[in-house]
Amino acid sequence: MCYIAIVFIIIYFKEVKKGKYMGVCNMKITVSLIKADVGGWPGHVRVHPRLIEAAKKKLSEAKNNGIIIDYHVFNAGDDLQLLMTHRKGTDSPEIHELAWNTFKEATQVAKKLKLYGAGQDLLSETFSGNLKGMGPGIAEMEFEERPSEPIVVFAADKTEPGAFNLPIFRIFADPFNTAGLVISPTMNLGFKFSIMDVYEGNIIDLNSPEEMYYILALIGQPGRFVIKYVYSRKEEIGIAAAVSTDRLNLIAGKYVGKDDPVAIIRGQHGLPAIGEITEPFAFPHLVAGWMRGSHHGPLMPVPLKYSQCTRFDGPPRIVGLGFQLAEGHLIGPVDLFDDPAFDLARKKANEIADYLRRHGPFEPHRLSAEEMEYTALPQVLDKIKNRWRKVAPKAKKAWAFGSLTD
Ligand code: F6R
Ligand code: MG
Ligand code: MG
Repeated sequence: MCYIAIVFIIIYFKEVKKGKYMGVCNMKITVSLIKADVGGWPGHVRVHPRLIEAAKKKLSEAKNNGIIIDYHVFNAGDDLQLLMTHRKGTDSPEIHELAWNTFKEATQVAKKLKLYGAGQDLLSETFSGNLKGMGPGIAEMEFEERPSEPIVVFAADKTEPGAFNLPIFRIFADPFNTAGLVISPTMNLGFKFSIMDVYEGNIIDLNSPEEMYYILALIGQPGRFVIKYVYSRKEEIGIAAAVSTDRLNLIAGKYVGKDDPVAIIRGQHGLPAIGEITEPFAFPHLVAGWMRGSHHGPLMPVPLKYSQCTRFDGPPRIVGLGFQLAEGHLIGPVDLFDDPAFDLARKKANEIADYLRRHGPFEPHRLSAEEMEYTALPQVLDKIKNRWRKVAPKAKKAWAFGSLTD
């Protein structure tokens, strides 16, 4: 009898540990990285330290009240970044409301200092249960904390969520970037990519390596198809990466600032090593964003001290912070791009920036017509719409901007 009871107790605790009885006792950890631009200093350059202070105060209260386990506040250019750990799962109304209220309080400070665009990413007056579609960008993941759990969080400014497509593909699917795909028996199983069509609001799951060409067929168009999650194909490991896919312009239907993205990636022991996670950023690939969200530019990896967009409101840049988790506590950060190993990438990014800037208002420095539809350009073209004269029949093709003379 006693033996049977012991067996039941062991099974129960194993199940609880798996997070099965979450309502009763959720052992899983959730990492939430939520960001918003609630005021720039000056213009769209960076976050003012007083906003960071206000956010820290609010999150420290939440930590003391047991709502979150730990937090770290930082900035990516003009975006205020709230990194939080807790046990409430993804899409938790309590955590989203905490982030919303934190942004609201920071907005009050921004308004007092008359910072630029105070509260600009808060698209609604009141919070309605979930931050999705309300302006802030969100990357969240829930998992069982391993005996040692390294994570990396990335935050980019003056670009869009699709900017992560190339580096995340390389981290989880390119053996020329990630040696572990060839050498590690676990990583050798491959990864599952969840890709979102941000125009249609649909998601598709594709497996690498066998469906790699489908994956690339989609994510090579980063303005529309965005990697949302990556999962290890070893079930016990589960989620490996989460990216914010919120596109403000598509929500609002017009240009309301760029959707500067964030991502969380778990590393090591069957997942890419920290050095495999940072490696793709040694190549400053071209992304959409930069000045007025209307230009292509190189994504420059920078330490926090250079997390400010000064040249032509850019060039687009990214910071990467590494932490170890200890029962949800954030041990860190380590400022991962604060390393001479990324000097060449920064130099290359500056050369590319110089070259592209010489094109002025011409494509491909300026974005394609489709992407420009979400900027203020259509309003400018409207001013001359009555001045066109017909000299040839209309071509049988659908144009971006519709018909310029309608
Ligand atoms: C915004 C941004 C900036 C602004 C630019 C013009 O995310 O990246 O480049 O678009 O500074 O701003 P406005 O039109 O507000 O003067
Ligand atoms: Mg801004
Ligand atoms: Mg920004």
